Amino acid sequence: MNRKVTVVGGGNVGATLAQRLADRELADVVLIDIVEGMPQGKALDIMEATPVEGSDARVIGTNDYADTAGSDVVVITAGIARKPGMSRDDLLNTNYKIVKDCTENALKHSPNAILVVVSNPLDAMCQVAYKVSGLPKHRVFGMAGVLDSARMRTFIAMELGVSVENVHAFVLGGHGDTMVPLPRFSTVAGVPITELLPKDRVDAIVKRTANGGAEIVSLLKTGSAYYAPSASTAEMVDAVLKDKHKILPCCCFLEGEFGIDGLYVGVPTQLGAKGVEKIWQIQLTAEENAALQKSAAAVKELVGVLKL
Ligand SMILES: NC(=O)c1ccc[n+]([C@@H]2O[C@H](COP(=O)([O-])OP(=O)(O)OC[C@H]3O[C@@H](n4cnc5c(N)ncnc54)[C@H](O)[C@@H]3O)[C@@H](O)[C@H]2O)c1
Repeated sequence: MNRKVTVVGGGNVGATLAQRLADRELADVVLIDIVEGMPQGKALDIMEATPVEGSDARVIGTNDYADTAGSDVVVITAGIARKPGMSRDDLLNTNYKIVKDCTENALKHSPNAILVVVSNPLDAMCQVAYKVSGLPKHRVFGMAGVLDSARMRTFIAMELGVSVENVHAFVLGGHGDTMVPLPRFSTVAGVPITELLPKDRVDAIVKRTANGGAEIVSLLKTGSAYYAPSASTAEMVDAVLKDKHKILPCCCFLEGEFGIDGLYVGVPTQLGAKGVEKIWQIQLTAEENAALQKSAAAVKELVGVLKL
């Protein structure tokens, strides 16, 4: 394998992502975490599945960034989840330190890597990785929109009883309560769902999408979603490694696009070997634009707490 992907954080999202990348023989994978033994154990376990999966990807686990050297893509999934009694700002500051540390260490050994951020709060952590890395904006972007759109696609397919392959969905904005699912651009075999479903059903799908992460958390009781998040991240890594020029909603640094400046927000993005090749500036209605601006304002407030 001549491609190398480092996954920082060997927790639920990171390990499942490593498994998906290895199973698909996309790249050799390095799983790194601060916990000793855990990434080594998980990586060996994933590696031992490769003969069965028919993949010659090599997977190693480590606590040493030297092993990550020369990675083409670095995915940051390290962080802690919010604990009882912990404020949103406490979580923000803790994960800020973690993402800063991981970004600096990873880039020291892989200066040419593309950085994909997954850690939450996503939009703010993208801003952290961008600032501390000093990389050009096209090489630092985040995963959220692919996941939010995948959830919306699932709900649309369930509602209409059709194949998920026929369904496309569009979700923009920050990764949180203010995300902006766009029914007008969400289609089944090319037909907008606004022409296929009554307004109350469309509204219910939009609401369930925006609440998608919380719905899983409330069922799991401990921890948060990782199967769909890792699949969504794998799709982005695949688009980069295969230079697919694929249009996916990603969290990107905007400089005037959609009237937003100096902020990471989810927008339609074309991904290829260089990372972000283009931001697709679609025409929004006044109502859609107002929702996007509201979402960007929420991200700006959160980022403001960090005083980057
Ligand atoms: N962007 C999205 O759509 C999305 C979706 C799901 C989860 N997430 C986020 O992804 C992150 C990971 O989620 P998870 O479920 O895998 O959590 P997890 O708790 O299972 O795993 C996090 C891992 O990070 C490790 N870690 C902590 N500090 C570290 C450091 N300095 N260096 C290396 N590793 C470190 C921990 O040891 C742990 O193994 C969380 O911030 C979560 O909120 C984002």
